[in-house]
Amino acid sequence: MPKQTFILNGKPVTVNVKDDVRVLWVLRDLLGVTGPKYGCGINVCKACTSHINGKAFNPCSVRVGDLGRDDEVTTIEGLPDTVGQDLHPMQEAWIDRDVPQCGYCQPGQIMAAVALVKKVRREGREIRDADLDTIRNICRCGTYTRIREAVVQGARGMA
Ligand code: FES
Ligand code: FES
Repeated sequence: MPKQTFILNGKPVTVNVKDDVRVLWVLRDLLGVTGPKYGCGINVCKACTSHINGKAFNPCSVRVGDLGRDDEVTTIEGLPDTVGQDLHPMQEAWIDRDVPQCGYCQPGQIMAAVALVKKVRREGREIRDADLDTIRNICRCGTYTRIREAVVQGARGMA
C-alpha cells in the first residue's frame, strides 16, 4: 500500500492508502478529522469544503495520490490556528449572527467564506454582493441570508 504524506492543519501526516482514495475519506475515516462533511461525494454540495494551500477545495473530488508532501490541507479544525486565536474571526461572526440551524453544512460554509474573502483581498478589493453570489455551498436548512450577513461581518474582522 503506498504511503501518502501531506500537511494537515499544520502538521505532517502519513497514511497507508491507495492513490485513488479521495482525500475526504482519508481525513474522516483514517485520520478522524470529521469537520469536513460528506454530503454528495461528487463535488456538488460543497459540504466538505476545506482549504488546500490557502484556497478552497472539495476533498471528496481529489485523489490522495495527487497531494504532495508539501501540500497544506486545512480543515475547520485547523482554521483558528491560521490566525493564532481560539476562534477565527469568521467563526466569531457566525456565532454573533447565530447562523447554523442543523449545522451540517456550516463547516464548509465557513471555509468557503474565508477562502472567498482571501480571494477578493488578493484582487485588492473588499467583498461585494456579487462575490457572495458565487458561494455554491448548499444549505438544506436555508440559512443563506444569515450566511451572507456573517461573511460580510467576518470579512471586517479578518486582517
Ligand atoms: S461531499 Fe464534497 S462536495 Fe459534496
Ligand atoms: S444548517 Fe442545516 S444544512 Fe445548513
